[in-house]
Amino acid sequence: MNGRASRKGRAVSVFGEEKEFTFRRQEFDKIRELLYQKTGIRLADSKDSMVYSRLARRLRALKLKTFSEYLGYLHSHPSEEQSFIDSLTTNLTSFFREKHHFPLLKDYIHRHPGPLKIWCSASSTGEEPYSIAMTVVEAYGCFNPPVEIIASDIDTTVLQKAKQGVYSLDNVKNLSVEQKKRFFHKGVGANQGKVRVVPELAKMVTFQQINLTHNKWALKGPIDVIFCRNVMIYFDKPTQLEILTRMVRLMPKTGIYIAGHSETFAGAGHLVTPLGNTIYQPVGGGR
Ligand SMILES: C[S@@+](CC[C@H](N)C(=O)[O-])C[C@H]1O[C@@H](n2cnc3c(N)ncnc32)[C@H](O)[C@@H]1O
Repeated sequence: MNGRASRKGRAVSVFGEEKEFTFRRQEFDKIRELLYQKTGIRLADSKDSMVYSRLARRLRALKLKTFSEYLGYLHSHPSEEQSFIDSLTTNLTSFFREKHHFPLLKDYIHRHPGPLKIWCSASSTGEEPYSIAMTVVEAYGCFNPPVEIIASDIDTTVLQKAKQGVYSLDNVKNLSVEQKKRFFHKGVGANQGKVRVVPELAKMVTFQQINLTHNKWALKGPIDVIFCRNVMIYFDKPTQLEILTRMVRLMPKTGIYIAGHSETFAGAGHLVTPLGNTIYQPVGGGR
């Protein structure tokens, strides 16, 4: 890895091939460290090309020539920090992702009819909290159940998209015909090929920015159900345990914590008890 300018004046990047911008190992390491400090996200060595392609857009937008210049810009312009974070988070999600959790949520609601508070703590572009809201509506049979749904993410770009509630037809292709009819309006004219969540569903979800690694969350407990899926995988063990500890403190003993498929909590037996299907209960709780 080196940052020599090539014969054609193009830079040699971290990949050892000609690239638009100079990107050296030391800049990659600084970016990783900064991202870890700001978000808790740990990037593996293999993520160099991902970092390059995602931040190259910022360099182009800011008319900068090297990653070193970008780091200097970031240092002197605190307002760039959010774009830096938004560029480097991975926001993959879908409606009813890991769908086995939703009948289990319905079942939980039937056993704990409310009032309930549900927190979707890494809500990305909104598919997850709206799937929760649809499940709640189906469980109660109405759009004004005694359930508060809070959705949060660190990334302001995805939160903006989530609030708009506009998706492509492809995004909703796996929903039942009934769900599509009940929960979405089809776009017409310029919005052909898109759908928007119906206002009754949209108003059930409140979106806000929360950085899970910050020690103050603007949230009030008790929170009965916490969805924290496919975000802990980006954090190291101490960060995971710290976040889990703080989440568990917000939950009643009857609460449930819903994790992603590859998120397990070895070493957290003092905090949570597994109930199966990557659902956990605070220690000492009784369903
Ligand atoms: C892969 S998506 C998962 C979305 C959804 N939970 C799901 O399972 O489909 C991970 C989300 O975590 C968010 N995230 C990453 N670090 C975060 C942090 N420190 N605090 C809050 N959200 C974070 C990212 O912005 C991203 O939207």
